[in-house]
Amino acid sequence: MDANGWDARYRSTDLVWSAGPNAFVAELCADLPAGRSIDLAAGEGRNALWLAERGWTSTAVDFSPVAIDKALAIAERRGVTIEGVVADLDDYVPTPAGYDLVLVAYLQLPDDRLAPILRRAAAAVAPGGTFLLVNHDAENLEHGYGGPQDAAVLTTPDQVVASLGDGFTVERAEVAKRVVSTDDGERAALDTLVLARRFG
Ligand SMILES: C[S@@+](CC[C@H](N)C(=O)[O-])C[C@H]1O[C@@H](n2cnc3c(N)ncnc32)[C@H](O)[C@@H]1O
Repeated sequence: MDANGWDARYRSTDLVWSAGPNAFVAELCADLPAGRSIDLAAGEGRNALWLAERGWTSTAVDFSPVAIDKALAIAERRGVTIEGVVADLDDYVPTPAGYDLVLVAYLQLPDDRLAPILRRAAAAVAPGGTFLLVNHDAENLEHGYGGPQDAAVLTTPDQVVASLGDGFTVERAEVAKRVVSTDDGERAALDTLVLARRFG
């Protein structure tokens, strides 16, 4: 979907995603010391807002101006500050070594587009900083709940790790279960989860 498509989706309802952070982001970032963070493909900013509330200097990047406007409006309502950037990640270069946390959550692109974005994302991690990606995993198609049904935009942990390049200690690279509440009870979605630290 292009930026216009995402704009239409974000315009169509109050919140497309949850108000609170993704469960893995909350679990894995809660104990990180606050610093500079950048959320690439931030959508309405659920993760960037949560980080800002925890003291991070938080940047949210998305190519949908509607999404970024929503994130900024929510920030104002919640009394926090985030920097909103409208940019296409196919071209955008986050400041190299500029962030203590680089987050990519559910950016659904085929690998020929995702890999260069992840390389630039990894290069943006400062020494000692953290890279975290969560995305719908390839296994979700057959064995998990919901998510895109287009195999081309699903990932595997190995694929993501290969895109990072050298200079990282990979702490987690796995298919992780995310519990989703549905009208029919709880279901498990399968996500690619990669957590890596840049050598200090
Ligand atoms: C599934 S949403 C995830 C939003 C957010 N990360 C979250 O977890 O709530 C995917 C987001 O990727 C953004 N996106 C897709 N392709 C993009 C691109 N080339 N450049 C910037 N943003 C992009 C969309 O606008 C959308 O907000």
